[in-house]
Amino acid sequence: MLYRPGPMRPRRVTTAPKPEFSRTLRSLWPFSPHLPAIAPQQGTLMSSIMPPSSGPSSGPSSGSSSGPSHAATNGSGTAPVLAPNVISAKEVSPRRKTSTAHTIDELVLEQLAHFGIDPKTEFGQHLGNVARSTYNAHSDTKLLWSTLTAELASLPRQDRAARFAAQKFLCFQLAKVLDTLMHPFRRTYQSIIDTQSSRLARGPYPIFDNITALFSAKPVITRTATYIYACSEWVDDGFQGKELLHQVYSRLLNPTNVSLANHVVDIEAGPLAHEYFAWNFNSGMAAIDAALSHLVGHQDIILASRNVYGGTYQLMHDWLSKPSNLDIAVEFFDGYTEADFAKALTDCQAKHADRLAKGRNIYVYLESPCNPHGYVLDVPAMTKLAHKHKLTVLCDSTVGTPFLHRPLKRKDAMERPDFVIHSYTKDMSGMGGTTAGVVIGRNERMFMGKHDSAQGLDVDGSPKTWHWNETLFWNVYYIKGAFLDSDKAYEVINGLHTLEMRVLHKTISTLTLAECLGLHEDINVNCNAAPGNPNAAIREKCLHLGLPAPLFTIDFEGKKGAGKPPFDRQMFKSFFDCLDPVFGHQVSLGQTNTVVLCPAITSHSEMSDEALRAAGIEPTTIRVAVGIEDPRTLIAHLIKASELALEPKAPGFCAKFPSPETVDAVYRKHYLAVHTKYVDSLPPTADLLK
Ligand SMILES: Cc1ncc(COP(=O)(O)O)c(C=O)c1O
Repeated sequence: MLYRPGPMRPRRVTTAPKPEFSRTLRSLWPFSPHLPAIAPQQGTLMSSIMPPSSGPSSGPSSGSSSGPSHAATNGSGTAPVLAPNVISAKEVSPRRKTSTAHTIDELVLEQLAHFGIDPKTEFGQHLGNVARSTYNAHSDTKLLWSTLTAELASLPRQDRAARFAAQKFLCFQLAKVLDTLMHPFRRTYQSIIDTQSSRLARGPYPIFDNITALFSAKPVITRTATYIYACSEWVDDGFQGKELLHQVYSRLLNPTNVSLANHVVDIEAGPLAHEYFAWNFNSGMAAIDAALSHLVGHQDIILASRNVYGGTYQLMHDWLSKPSNLDIAVEFFDGYTEADFAKALTDCQAKHADRLAKGRNIYVYLESPCNPHGYVLDVPAMTKLAHKHKLTVLCDSTVGTPFLHRPLKRKDAMERPDFVIHSYTKDMSGMGGTTAGVVIGRNERMFMGKHDSAQGLDVDGSPKTWHWNETLFWNVYYIKGAFLDSDKAYEVINGLHTLEMRVLHKTISTLTLAECLGLHEDINVNCNAAPGNPNAAIREKCLHLGLPAPLFTIDFEGKKGAGKPPFDRQMFKSFFDCLDPVFGHQVSLGQTNTVVLCPAITSHSEMSDEALRAAGIEPTTIRVAVGIEDPRTLIAHLIKASELALEPKAPGFCAKFPSPETVDAVYRKHYLAVHTKYVDSLPPTADLLK
């Protein structure tokens, strides 16, 4: 029967995004010319996704559609050696593992035979021609990839813009071919799914209408548990993590989740993004749990900074330390400097000499900026020292966000923590609408194909071969199931658009609040932005533009040497209860509105004043997680709540707040200074024209 294209079927226009967008993880290695110091071993996933090493001069000729490709012979003229274009082309054969073809024409015939299509029919000829073009297109695209990788860094911006536009258009061309294919393909489908019962059971066949979803201006929310198989040999590779086009199950890979992972690596590591990889989790705690479960073994030791998030403390203390679980030892260290860490490490090594002698390891866990005061650790210096001791370093960078805290952008690789963790729940998603988290680490410690190994770097910078079962994916992510689903991944992607603006504004408010509240002689401000704060120098060194994280505490315990204001707990409770709604009575941080919590009268209310102090909490400590509102509205409300609840028993308290004119002047000063600093930090137009 002759094949005739049927009439065009009108496309149904919907406003909702269509599901199922086949996105690969390949862009996790964006193949900039600054390739990581990873020499992929033959046959590894990395080699299959690294750009072909042969450049245009040393590489094969394109073997393009101008004619059939031929198998070369080896020197003795016996066993044929496959031409490079045939090797590339084989990747898109349904018999990529078992093919015996030596030329692209043979690949075409093999493909037709595999699906039972007679090449002599008119349909077979057309299909064969399309397949031949596709084999050639694939091998030419690989050449384009290697050429571009070799040249990109030296290209002026206009040439990069030209290449981007040309490649984008090629995507549309390829999609147009695919879209054209949908017409005969859909007709065939309709001829097979021809009963109402099978139509309803099968639902709309997703490929048909998903092609256009490629051009959705936002990543598509891929709400699916499973994915359609291409053929048995491809899906087998998919199961082994060796064909990343082929996602098999959303608990492992999901396009929206992968889109966020690619994006966050770009944000966190910038020009070094090609060295890093991310896995997203269902919450910040799930990310922390994954990273620790990945690394820490029975009777290992965690050396952690003192002020870690409460959930992290509980995970380490209540679960990992339990003798019936992993029986790990946890040591917390105080202080923020390299010297503080060096001493803690020496003490830890001495205390746990017996465990270390038995081959157990120390892992360093840092949280910076940290809860509740927003103080900053000298992460680069601590990390470098830990690396000299061959220790793996994890850093929870949630409070700083990738805007303020940039541990993976350090030039010196030894200063970069091995794993950076974020709770997206906070400023990264930014609106308080979801819980999510991420772990970011070097490629070779995050993912490779099953049973593969790859040359990478050890923590001290020396070369090391890493194996697939040492990666976070196979060791934890694949098994434990705490993955981030597509709806939540989408919400984080959305929130990230405004991260920089939100956090910039919050730093202005933090500076304003710290200075204005610090002017009151009965309020202590524990914030490294407060004038004279001992943590200010490390903040200047470690946070972008020296700006403070939007988290600090205040207390009413009286300034050093001065008397404590006459507050009893009941008065303080009344005061705290009057702070809502301007200060949100909510836990968490990194929301759009400013939120406050007071451990002594909430989570730790059963403890006596003495017990609270021993735990580092003053009875009147309030943690302020700054939002994006005008900070003067916060100060005004604080003054009014004080008038209501504190002034009657502590007359004169409210008169000690700075005047309205002073508050306005302080806000204006910081508003202008921060924006000036920010604009001065941006590349000038002349640089952008290079
Ligand atoms: C610094 C820090 N890390 C991690 C977490 C845990 O994140 P999630 O609540 O998303 O599990 C929190 C939560 O408050 C946090 O403040």
